Amino acid sequence: MRSAPFALLVLFAALPASAQQAGDADKGKRLYVQCTACHTLEAGGKARVGPNLHGVIGAAAGTRPDFTNYSDALKKSGIEWTDDRLDAWLKKPAALVPGTKMVFVGLARDQDRADLIAYLKDATK
Ligand code: HEC
Repeated sequence: MRSAPFALLVLFAALPASAQQAGDADKGKRLYVQCTACHTLEAGGKARVGPNLHGVIGAAAGTRPDFTNYSDALKKSGIEWTDDRLDAWLKKPAALVPGTKMVFVGLARDQDRADLIAYLKDATK
């Protein structure tokens, strides 16, 4: 019985951290409105100013098919689109990849980026 209070303590200690990181895809969908002028997400979607993002999660940067306007900076970045790299990209694209052609100011709020990434995971697979 002595371990029960300890287990509770661990539970409460862990809660805030995981709640902060978990993205809400519904909220992310609303945030994605900022991206639609330049991106489509569905399989076979058209390239706009930026590439169609179908299959981008886990892929190497600069490799979406049918997009011919990538910057050399992104193609040579060596980035693989993990949660961590997407988070840095959406915070400030030009800070992660100086010379990128993605003209986007970035999302300052950590939770907004987590929500948007959760949505992208659903909508690009
Ligand atoms: C003004 C147009 C524009 C807007 C707005 C924009 N992007 Fe982009 N995006 C681009 C361009 C152009 C590239 C290619 C950048 C390069 O080659 O340097 C790109 C690249 C990307 C990539 C990397 C694709 C790959 O194949 O490696 C991701 C992921 C991405 N954008 C997500 C987003 C998300 C999510 C938003 C909304 C928050 C957004 N973009 C807003 C134009 C835009």
